[in-house]
Amino acid sequence: MSRVALVTGGTRGIGAAISIALQKAGRIVIASYAGNTEAAAAFTKETGIETARFDAGNFEECQKTVADITARHGAIEILVNNAGITRDSVISKMTRDMWDAVVDTNLGSCFNLCKVTFDGMKANKFGRIVNIGSINGQAGQYGQVNYAAAKSGIHGFTKALAQEGARYGITVNAVAPGYVDTDMVRAVPPDVLEKIIAKIPRGRLGKAEDIARGVAFLTADEADFITGSTLSINGGQHMY
Ligand code: CAA
Repeated sequence: MSRVALVTGGTRGIGAAISIALQKAGRIVIASYAGNTEAAAAFTKETGIETARFDAGNFEECQKTVADITARHGAIEILVNNAGITRDSVISKMTRDMWDAVVDTNLGSCFNLCKVTFDGMKANKFGRIVNIGSINGQAGQYGQVNYAAAKSGIHGFTKALAQEGARYGITVNAVAPGYVDTDMVRAVPPDVLEKIIAKIPRGRLGKAEDIARGVAFLTADEADFITGSTLSINGGQHMY
């Protein structure tokens, strides 16, 4: 069914694969991005998917963009909170800015976008929200107190909002990716990454499409009875 879907961070990496999977499922997809205009233009050229530039960590920008999308396409009924950044560092070297940036973008964005789309979903008595967590929010990770805290927060947020949404036909679930072959993971020092891959039972990094498949499953109209759950997609690295 041609429902309107917003995928934050939807023009690159895991987000791009999610946008494409939802388009294939017949959704009207809007993929957001924060700053990389060149990548966004190339993505639209390749896929025909509309993009919207805004900072998902900024409440006013979320409000404005969602109002604009709603006016042009109708209420957003599928929301994938995928936008995320890393600012890795051991705590002794981590600045308050590194903490704030990661918490605002990765966790604050979930509040912002759920807050401004929820009433539209309620009115339609239908909604599918998928928040992208992380194996590192489940298990922790050396050098990531900011990222692990934000991602762990996403898992709690998901279970709380699932309880609020259930009576309106709004499901809220999380997907927790492991290490996936994206720019973010390629930024990990090669010697560190090598050790991490050695601990993945499946013996490889994930592909963005491995994650997108899970999101398409959870956002299907038929997934009505799945809510408050976390789908871990990590090659067996952390069984939780
Ligand atoms: N456990 C225990 N000790 C560790 C460790 C670990 N996992 N990782 C590093 N150390 C140790 C090192 O062995 C080293 O010890 P020695 O001084 O005795 O040699 C010490 O800690 C310092 O390590 P570094 O030289 O690497 O320190 P650094 O300050 O240069 O860098 C770091 C620290 C930024 C955390 C770096 O190790 C790093 O980038 N690690 C990878 C973090 C990571 O996995 N990020 C995930 C990004 S992808 C993502 O987040 C997506 C997702 O959802 C999965």
